[in-house]
This record gives sequence, structure tokens and C-alpha cells, in this order.
Amino acid sequence: GTKAIILVGGPSRGTRFRPLSLDVPKPLFDVAGHPIVWHCLTAIAKVPSIQEVIMIGYYDESVFRDFIKDAAHEFPNLPIKYLREYQALGTAGGLYHFRDVILKGRPERIFVLNSDVCCSFPLNEMAQLFDDRDAEAVILGTRVSEDAATNFGCIVSDQHSRRVLHYVEKPESHISNLINCGVYLFSTEAIFPSIRTAIKRRTERPRLVSYPSSENLESSFMADDDDEEKKNEVIRLEQDILGDMADSKQFYVYETKDFWRQIKTAGSAVPANALYLQKAAQTGSQELAKPSANIISPVFIHPSAQVDPTAKLGPNVSIGPRAVIGPGVRVKESIVLEDAEIKHDACVLYSIVGWNSRVGAWARVEGTPTPVNSHTTSIVKNGVKVQSITILGKETGVGDEVRVQNCVCLPFKELKRDVANEVIM
Ligand code: GDD
Ligand code: GTP
Repeated sequence: GTKAIILVGGPSRGTRFRPLSLDVPKPLFDVAGHPIVWHCLTAIAKVPSIQEVIMIGYYDESVFRDFIKDAAHEFPNLPIKYLREYQALGTAGGLYHFRDVILKGRPERIFVLNSDVCCSFPLNEMAQLFDDRDAEAVILGTRVSEDAATNFGCIVSDQHSRRVLHYVEKPESHISNLINCGVYLFSTEAIFPSIRTAIKRRTERPRLVSYPSSENLESSFMADDDDEEKKNEVIRLEQDILGDMADSKQFYVYETKDFWRQIKTAGSAVPANALYLQKAAQTGSQELAKPSANIISPVFIHPSAQVDPTAKLGPNVSIGPRAVIGPGVRVKESIVLEDAEIKHDACVLYSIVGWNSRVGAWARVEGTPTPVNSHTTSIVKNGVKVQSITILGKETGVGDEVRVQNCVCLPFKELKRDVANEVIM
């Protein structure tokens, strides 16, 4: 059998997802009508041999309770649980800490998914490669531009066999444009011993280098000890494990030609929303709004939302529960969250309108498109780096006829005058 682990992180992560993560933990933020982590589950549900899904993070237990209940309904054959780390243990630390639970039922393999990526999760294809090569590990890779590559884990592979020869996490200089998508398949016999080896090395090595040579050796050693111990518990797949695996294990890369994007900044929810909506359209999902003169596909409209028939929506728009879209409104490449209201003739482009926000009549809330595959949500305007996507935090008010361009607006603000290229606090 196989298990799937989803790494969901915790409240101190996802800080770049502010202000949206102030109100909802990033994995539960809705894109294309469903929480980010729900898209991982749909892919996992398509793998025949899955025994169990385990979400690991350091959010409070209560955070995922409702989500897990809903998921149990939608995916009745997929047992799902959440395991909480007592502190951030790193991407491999949590796996190791909960190894007994993971290994219960004797799975031969585990998928490990970063929750903050958006892709088609070709898990069955990865499993196929795993079988074909009799692998111990398979990583999902994608090609990005040379400028973008060093922001990710970089993979050097043998072109023919697809074997991973080198792995370097966020290298200082360019080594490859094949990058780590944050999705892995490991044999349980390979991954746990590899983590154990990394932990051993950790506990031996820092002592050697951090021993002070001065006379007051004892006091400085004591001061460091506590901190050192905590740090030793943090084990990261990327820095501590994957490099070694390339040297010593049957480690292969499956390169996806399908879409892939990271969901880090709040603005990156807009491209993720677009990609998942396009995928839903391709697979003939019944959830999408029917195309018409005023609906440019793909568009998701929650059944409880009220959209005036003269409003024009799409492409790549999601309208959340109970949102109200007035007559003559134009919404394109945007997410409108629960209970938001867009008054008549307003225009919302490349933006996220937060929960309970109000956009006035004839107002314009707009961002700027970024090149497909640029893997960034900031742009340079007049020599200054600004957000490409405009984000209104919850309960923001935008006055009638006000224009908001390339801004991030924290919750509860009232925008009465035009603003551009600003973070409004
Ligand atoms: N449970 C748990 N505990 N989860 C964690 C922890 C932790 O201590 N730290 C991070 N995570 C989760 C995050 O929520 C996220 O889903 C994933 O693990 C990776 O997060 P980061 O550690 O912030 O890494 P990154 O996103 O900068 O880079 C990783 O992903 C890239 C692809 O998006 C690396 O794997 C890169 O190599 C990769 O290219
Ligand atoms: P995540 O956003 O989930 O990674 O949570 P986090 O708490 O790790 O995010 P945080 O904003 O604290 O950033 C982590 C590291 O990335 C820090 O060293 C930041 O300086 C850096 N960082 C923050 N924002 C960006 C960004 O937009 N681009 C890049 N390349 N690095 C960033």
C-alpha cells in the first residue's frame, strides 16, 4: 500500500500570504472554489493504492477539524487525519517524529506533498516511473526560466535515465532550470533511514564546529546548548536529505509538462485560481458557470452568490459564498471572497477582494498581469517593486468611483481616495 503525507506548515509560516492568512490559514484559502489543500486531496484520491492521508503541520488541531469532516464526505474512501508537531520540525522532522503512525499498516511507499503548490499532481505517473526504475525516491520536477530557478530546489539529472545526479536547495548561482515542485514519492525503507542518518550527522557535527577555543569554554557551551538542541530537531528534506539521496539512492525525477506554480504570496492565489479553473474546464467539471454572453469561461460562482445578469465575469474568476455582484460590473482574473459586495458598474481586474469587503459604484480595483511562468507576483513600476495583484484584506471599503491600483490593503481600511503602488496599513 501507499500513504500520502501533506505538509501544511503552521501559523508562523505563510507570512508572505498576508493579509489573507490573517483570517484563514493558507492551506484553507479558497482557489477555484475549494481550499488549496483540497486540490491535493482530489489528486491523491485518484491513486488506487492509497491507504491513508496524513496532514502534518503545527497549526492547532481545531484548524482542520471542519475541513477533515467535509473531506470525509467528499472522499469517503480516503481516511484523513491531521497530526500536529509541537513546534516546527522542518519538512522531514515531522515525518520522522510521526514515523510510527505513518508506518502503521506497513505502507511500502509514501507520497509527500508541499501544500503550497498548485499543479496537476501527476501522482500515478510518478508511481509508474518509480516501478519502471525500481526506484527508492521520485521527485516531481518542472522547467522554469534561468532567473527563477535559484528560488527553488534545483535538480541535475541524467537526461536519458532521469536519474537525479545532484540536488541543491536554492543555490547561490545557476546550476539547472529543472526545479523541485515539492512533490515526492519515497520508499519507506529508504526515507526513514536517510532521515535518521541526517539526524545523527546533525548531532555530531555542530558540536565539533561550535566548540569555542577560548578558556571560558564551559559557559559559552552552556548558553548554546538549549538552542542547539531545538535546532537539531529541525530536519529539512531539501537541505539535509535530498542531496544525499542523489549520491546514494535510486533517485529519479519525473518532469511534468503540465502547469505548476508555487502559492507563497497572497497575489499568487490569482494565477493558482486561474490554473485550477482552466483544469476544471478541461476536465468538464460541472461546478463551473455555464458560458454565455456575460460569462467568459472559466468562471466559478458559488451557488449562494448573487450575480446580476448584466455583470460580465471572466475569464479566470471565482465568486465566493453570498457575494453580491451588481449590474454592469466587470470582473476578470480575480477572486471575490465570501460576503463581498461589488456595486454597480465597478471593475475588478487581477485582484482579490477580501471577505465582507465593499467596492463602490464605478470604482476600479486593479492589478497588472504578470508574464505566464515568471514565477513572481511582483513587478517593477517606475523603478520600484510593487505587487502585481491588488489585494483587499477583509472588510475593506472602496468608495464610489475610487481607483485602487497595485495595492495591498490591510483589513478594515476605508479607501476614499485613489491609491496606487502602496501597502495600505
Ligand atoms: N509540517 C511542517 N513542518 N510543514 C512544514 C514545515 C514544518 O516545520 N516547514 C515547512 N513546511 C511545509 C510548508 O507549509 C510547505 O507546504 C512546504 O512544507 C515547503 O515549505 P518551505 O520549507 O517554506 O519551502 P519552500 O516552499 O521555500 O521550498 C520548497 O518548495 C519548493 C516548491 O514550491 C522546496 O522543496 C523547494 O526545493 C521547492 O522548489
Ligand atoms: P512561507 O511564505 O510559507 O515560506 O512562510 P515564511 O514564514 O517562511 O515566510 P517569510 O515571509 O518569513 O519568508 C521566509 C524567507 O523568505 C525569509 O528569509 C524572507 O526574507 C524570504 N522572502 C520573503 N518574501 C519573499 C519573496 O517574495 N521572495 C523571495 N525570494 N523571498 C522572500
